[in-house]
Amino acid sequence: MAASIPPAWTTGTAPNSFAALPAGRLGTLGGQLMRLLNRAQQREIAQLLGPLDELDVLEIGHGPGVLLGMLARTARHVVGVDPSREMRALAIRAHANAIAAGRLDVRPGDAGATGLPDSAVDVVVGVNNVAIWPDLDAGVGELHRVLRPGGRLVLSWHGGERSSRLTRGLVLPEDRLQRIEDALRARFPEVRRTQTRRCTVFEARTSPAGPPVPPG
Ligand SMILES: C[S@@+](CC[C@H](N)C(=O)[O-])C[C@H]1O[C@@H](n2cnc3c(N)ncnc32)[C@H](O)[C@@H]1O
Repeated sequence: MAASIPPAWTTGTAPNSFAALPAGRLGTLGGQLMRLLNRAQQREIAQLLGPLDELDVLEIGHGPGVLLGMLARTARHVVGVDPSREMRALAIRAHANAIAAGRLDVRPGDAGATGLPDSAVDVVVGVNNVAIWPDLDAGVGELHRVLRPGGRLVLSWHGGERSSRLTRGLVLPEDRLQRIEDALRARFPEVRRTQTRRCTVFEARTSPAGPPVPPG
């Protein structure tokens, strides 16, 4: 486990799950487990995103990198950021070819500090980490900052129409779900909450680009 994990905005206490900020050998083991346990969720989110041709994509909190691989199959370019060194190592090992081909970068970062410049990407996606961010509004602000006009944010958490027995205990109460929706509405003109089979999903879009300003 990491030496110190900041309190999560959902509970006000440090998440004690070894999945929240995996570190050391136990963290690597946790990442390998996540790879198996959360694969169906990643598939549902990849399907919801659809083809990403010609789009630049950021995934935050990618963990072992299952979704990164799916994204890199169609996107123009993918950046993955995760605060855990062990998760970055697993993702780098799993996707060495995409990295060598220049289609994927894996870097240190988190929802509140992605390290990307303004308006850098068309799509941001985060699966199973929004509830463990230390500061929801700071994270939403950062992800809005790095999205281009007309860009799309997809945040997903355990839930959905039929969550598995293993993840049922992680489903967020309605007041926390509403808090995510409110934080998104404060920044994005278009927000909706949907359910896949295993995920509760928040989708938001930035305002489209205005018409070009005539010179002079
Ligand atoms: C439960 S795992 C989920 C991993 C993967 N997305 C999945 O669904 O299998 C949570 C991941 O979020 C990362 N994480 C922790 N704090 C974060 C933060 N503030 N912003 C973004 N990611 C964070 C952790 O390092 C970990 O890889």
